[in-house]
Amino acid sequence: MKGLILSGGSGRRLRPLTHTNAKQLVPIANKPILHYVLEDLVSAGVTNIAIVVGDTGDEVRASVGDGSRWGATVAYVEQSAPLGLAHAVLVAQDFLADDPFVMYLGDNMFEESLDLIVEGFVDSEEAARLLLARVDDPCAFGVANVDSSGAIVGLVEKPTDPPSDLALVGVYLFTAAIHEAVRRIRPSARGELEITDAIQLLIDDGANINHRVLEGWWIDTGKKDPLLACNRLVLARLPGDGVLVDDDAEVIRSTLVGPVVVAAGARIVDSTVGPSVAVGAGCRIEGSTVDDSVLMDGSSIMGQQMVTGSVLGREAGIHGVGGQLDRRSSVLSVLLGDHSLVDTTGVVDEVISNG
Ligand code: G1P
Repeated sequence: MKGLILSGGSGRRLRPLTHTNAKQLVPIANKPILHYVLEDLVSAGVTNIAIVVGDTGDEVRASVGDGSRWGATVAYVEQSAPLGLAHAVLVAQDFLADDPFVMYLGDNMFEESLDLIVEGFVDSEEAARLLLARVDDPCAFGVANVDSSGAIVGLVEKPTDPPSDLALVGVYLFTAAIHEAVRRIRPSARGELEITDAIQLLIDDGANINHRVLEGWWIDTGKKDPLLACNRLVLARLPGDGVLVDDDAEVIRSTLVGPVVVAAGARIVDSTVGPSVAVGAGCRIEGSTVDDSVLMDGSSIMGQQMVTGSVLGREAGIHGVGGQLDRRSSVLSVLLGDHSLVDTTGVVDEVISNG
């Protein structure tokens, strides 16, 4: 069985971070999401893998290389523009040939291991096997209409009136039957070739489409809050007290509240960090309190009473004078692109001069 990882896409919902970062390389607990996807595929025995890349292809190549680090062979397929998941299958046709494959969206993470999901597929009569998960906001996903016997009778992409709360998870198992279907569909209202529409054609043709409903968590990390939720869930798996500090990091007069990870070269002084914080390489935190946040490499938080629910891009900073603000004005929750700077010292002057 082959693996097809989709790592194109513009990451619109994570801007400004994704102006300069591939969304699949945003770190969760200090490791790019895409690396978890590779680990998952390899542990399910899928080692012949292609990654479909777009504008951020060079960055993805630099991060993954030839896949040998995971014991896999990774090839790259160029997608000229993010024209949809079914378009990605079209452009990967030479790589896929007639083999069954797992298509895995490079920004999806889920708790169950892929192992159990692929089990038995190759020897089955199934044309496709889908994964579904119950969600609170089905309108944001592809949604399955399931009949009383549990069979999928229809799929609809981003419905305004969802037929169920069962969303399509970004992991699909296909046989070569999908190739003809992706050639037959036309672009959707959002201008994309939807894999959902291609699978619907298979259903209409009477193909055997199996599915499983996921029991553990599943997160499409493409937005800030789900990204932070994923960071919390992955950090929560850390053993012991959940505090993991690299030998080359410095923690001075500070309290770390697990789960928290601190990468090499980071320096934390006079601060309280955690729970649920990933501190990237070379970050600086001084005189601040930080929880529930992702700090990408080289970012800094100085003199802030409370930073929560935040994602800081590489070399981004939040700089204040610390300790002097009243509680309301000092709680910050931000999504900062690379090299952005939020300076709150002016806020202090205003608070002081307004008495
Ligand atoms: C895509 C699929 C959708 C699926 C989702 C899972 O949506 O089109 O059916 O539920 O991935 O992450 P997109 O991320 O392109 O909006």
